[in-house]
Amino acid sequence: MIESLLPPGVASSEAFDDAAPAPLFPAEEALMTGRRARRHRQFATARACARRCLADLGHAPVALLPGPGGAPAWPTGVVGSITHCDGYRAAVADHFGRTAALGIDAEPAGPLPPGVLGLITSPAERAHLSDLAAADPATPWERLFFSAKEAVYKAWYPATGTWLGFRQATLSLSPTGSFTCTLHPPPTAPALDPHYTGRWLTTPTLVLTAVARAGA
Ligand SMILES: CC(C)(COP(=O)(O)OP(=O)(O)OC[C@H]1O[C@@H](n2cnc3c(N)ncnc32)[C@H](O)[C@@H]1OP(=O)(O)O)[C@@H](O)C(=O)NCCC(=O)NCCS
Repeated sequence: MIESLLPPGVASSEAFDDAAPAPLFPAEEALMTGRRARRHRQFATARACARRCLADLGHAPVALLPGPGGAPAWPTGVVGSITHCDGYRAAVADHFGRTAALGIDAEPAGPLPPGVLGLITSPAERAHLSDLAAADPATPWERLFFSAKEAVYKAWYPATGTWLGFRQATLSLSPTGSFTCTLHPPPTAPALDPHYTGRWLTTPTLVLTAVARAGA
């Protein structure tokens, strides 16, 4: 599914459960020591997805350890993104240069927990979501909105090392499966084009969002 949201040539791999054995490198296994079994399994399956992407790009399998801010440290010359939630794990990657930034996010297709919407939206964004819901009540717009901002963040952070809250991004969803986002970073952040575009899809159980920025 995720490949349908990305430009041709971007490597992708996804899984809907943890049925396939997914061995970890010792340094990755050490990260999971003491973690809940569910987290361990999802981490391992997502790492297996990431290594399939690396293989597609001609890279040997390597440990993918978290770098600053939790972003996975891909091998030099590779840009990528990882997501996992109940019922879905995925990774995407490409050669840095052909692609400058990637961000993907998956969420369960349900309403957001109470109180979250007000934390992640401006009044104008809430009006936008109300309009979308009035025209199409079946789509989980609020969950999609949350997911799309997370996908943008995953594309932004590895390039800048700068934390951004949900209110530092203005996002607009199109009913046709795309979205646009403008970031409002602090003046101390590295100068980077603040405009992102992405794509989304929903299934009866999932929402998926993806952001890809082409290389220079
Ligand atoms: C980091 C964050 C986006 C992860 O999203 P999530 O829905 O909680 O979890 P997901 O399963 O989809 O993604 C987790 C994966 O994201 C990746 N990730 C974590 N931190 C990251 C970062 N700073 N940059 C890029 N990728 C990151 C990791 O690969 C992680 O999986 P792993 O720990 O198994 O390696 C989220 O927890 C967060 O901190 N959000 C706040 C910032 C934000 O979204 N701002 C929006 C405005 S731009």
